Amino acid sequence: MNNNKTVKDYIRTIVDFPHEGIMFRDVTTLFADPRGFRMAIDQMLHPYAGMRIDKVVGLEARGFILGGAIAHQLSVGFVPIRKKGKLPGTTISEEYKLEYGEAIVEIHDDALLPGETVLVVDDLLATGGTAEAGIKLIERLGAEIVGCAFIIDLPDLGGRKKLEAMGMDVYALCE
Ligand code: PRP
Ligand code: ADE
Repeated sequence: MNNNKTVKDYIRTIVDFPHEGIMFRDVTTLFADPRGFRMAIDQMLHPYAGMRIDKVVGLEARGFILGGAIAHQLSVGFVPIRKKGKLPGTTISEEYKLEYGEAIVEIHDDALLPGETVLVVDDLLATGGTAEAGIKLIERLGAEIVGCAFIIDLPDLGGRKKLEAMGMDVYALCE
């Protein structure tokens, strides 16, 4: 067993998924490995040690897996931001563009309280459209975002710059 593996070493690339020309960064191989998964969770939490975080917000779908583990580690609650039509209660929504398509995301309108501090979590930052929409939803509910944590940043797609221009603190484990 190679114990010097980094988080990046556990991620595989699937060419032409879900469309031709997309190099899909697949984190299922990272999640499936006990050492890799723990390393990813520990490293994503590292910058926020000692900070007040009331809730972890995860972006569908892989942000749920990371966000659940991170919320458990912090002993705080978890809030999902989901694709349109999946949440059962009253929601607010935001439309956004993806690297490959368009979508609408939603949050329950009572999921966060004004003044609550939130850590936003997802697996990957590409154009930043998904995270931007999520941030808008969180801010519309009056919560305060402590940081946005990702496993992977694809810097050529401009997501980090977009979020930083919104005043966000962005952290990613690898590029
Ligand atoms: C992926 C990824 C991020 C988003 C990043 O999710 O998990 O949520 O794309 O792209 P962006 O920065 O350009 O918005 P995807 O849209 O494939 O949805 P899924 O997780 O539900 O499969
Ligand atoms: N979401 C947007 N672009 C992606 C990529 N290249 N790999 C995985 N998820 C993505």
